Amino acid sequence: MPTTAKSRPEELTDTLDLLAAEEPSAALPPELPATLRHIVLTGFMGAGKSTVGRLVADRLGWVFLDLDDHLEARAGLSVPEIFARHGEAHFRRLESSALASALGRPRTVLALGGGTPEVLTNRLLLEQTPGTAVIFLDAPFPTLFDRCVLQEISRPVLADPAAAELRFAARHPLYRRLARHTIGTADATPEETALALIAALAQNRAS
Ligand code: S3P
Repeated sequence: MPTTAKSRPEELTDTLDLLAAEEPSAALPPELPATLRHIVLTGFMGAGKSTVGRLVADRLGWVFLDLDDHLEARAGLSVPEIFARHGEAHFRRLESSALASALGRPRTVLALGGGTPEVLTNRLLLEQTPGTAVIFLDAPFPTLFDRCVLQEISRPVLADPAAAELRFAARHPLYRRLARHTIGTADATPEETALALIAALAQNRAS
């Protein structure tokens, strides 16, 4: 017979109450769709893809992978070095190959680069890889730009802010179309965004 609240021994009820009071979602990990293998975060630079991705991976006990880090490790060069020495087109080729490699790993939370969805083959790969849920972390351009200025990350694509804003406008519909869920991050902490993301995926259990 299943244990009910009435028939539970007192110590067990106390333990469950304690766990729930401490951290409800840690005590009861959300049920994600059984077929889910990759949670992929997309959005412009400064969206919080890596910060939120790490939090989500920690909560789920999955592996976190940042596509830029994966690409840099494979190339033996930093992103700015690749742009400076070989140009953006070469960077995009390395990025596509790193994406294919990253999607071979199960139970991974993957933070894309801001420009990854610009490339059609990358979008097709993300759409056609089974068990892949893409989540778009959205915020207005000025918010994203201000966040990037505060970070000590060298981003070649931000060197010309006006050109970056044009890229943002061109990419925005691509991010939206690719994503199963869009989460606004302008007024949310990374922790709040991570919880919203997990809740959104958990609602889709059957998918
Ligand atoms: C880029 C975004 C960067 C990195 C590269 C190009 C882009 O990643 O891939 O500098 O084109 O938007 P983040 O979005 O993680 O900063």
